[in-house]
Amino acid sequence: MELVETPDAMVAWAERHRHDRVGLVPTMGYLHRGHVSLMELLRPRVDRLVVSIFVNPLQFGANEDLAVYPRDPERDAEKCRLVGVDCIFQPQEMYPEAFQTTVSVGDLTRGLCGARRPGHFEGVCTVVTRLFGLTRCDEACFGEKDYQQLMVIRRMVEDLALPVTIVPGPLVRDADGLALSSRNAFLSVEERRRGLSLHRALLAMADAAAAGEVEVPALLDRARGRLDVDRPDYLEVVDAQTMQPLEVVDRPARALVAAFLGRTRLIDNLAVGPELSWT
Ligand code: PAF
Repeated sequence: MELVETPDAMVAWAERHRHDRVGLVPTMGYLHRGHVSLMELLRPRVDRLVVSIFVNPLQFGANEDLAVYPRDPERDAEKCRLVGVDCIFQPQEMYPEAFQTTVSVGDLTRGLCGARRPGHFEGVCTVVTRLFGLTRCDEACFGEKDYQQLMVIRRMVEDLALPVTIVPGPLVRDADGLALSSRNAFLSVEERRRGLSLHRALLAMADAAAAGEVEVPALLDRARGRLDVDRPDYLEVVDAQTMQPLEVVDRPARALVAAFLGRTRLIDNLAVGPELSWT
């Protein structure tokens, strides 16, 4: 496994492997089983697997957790080695000095995390586009844990005709249902226990929809009653493809929640109603 630490060295690596099928799992490090599942999904599909580790300042707001975002490069490297990753791209600096280009996606980024974290998706799309360019990857894997991000990246790739196949990876949960996230490391025992209420709230909606309740306001009422958090950020049911809010679940839909436990913001989501086909 190679460790590549600068954008120039990444370009040189990509040039050396230009005849291989290259897969990329972009991450911000502090890897957990969710990331590992994305690597395992991509590993058999490609000749060379790259994992990027970069805590991208562009996608953090001024009052967010950039400075304290958890890091553990040695443990990350060990996890990558066990999956058979060929290359870790872990630069200190990602952007050139005179950097002045950003990538922004329209409607899909206006609600949910896009509304609560202004500039977030522009930061994500910009770094992901740069990672695609530097690694020259043919495929890239993004988890359904960040469902809105996945939909935004798919839109961007199609709109800009980027030659990268986006492979969605299922959300991975702990045995008790908590969605895996690097930010779970910030939770106290008590916050973590209450954090389980995000999944329970989503399950209440999915179960009710499966039992025939299609009115979104009624579904949301059920879910709100189950949330035990310090500050809800959003709770919505949206069209699974357009991410527009729904009044009635009459098509593949996604229930999404974001909430603060102490200072930690957790997000989670679940399919509601008919399944979405990823083709
Ligand atoms: O999902 C993440 O960890 C980040 O948003 C990503 C895709 C690595 C871009 O920084």
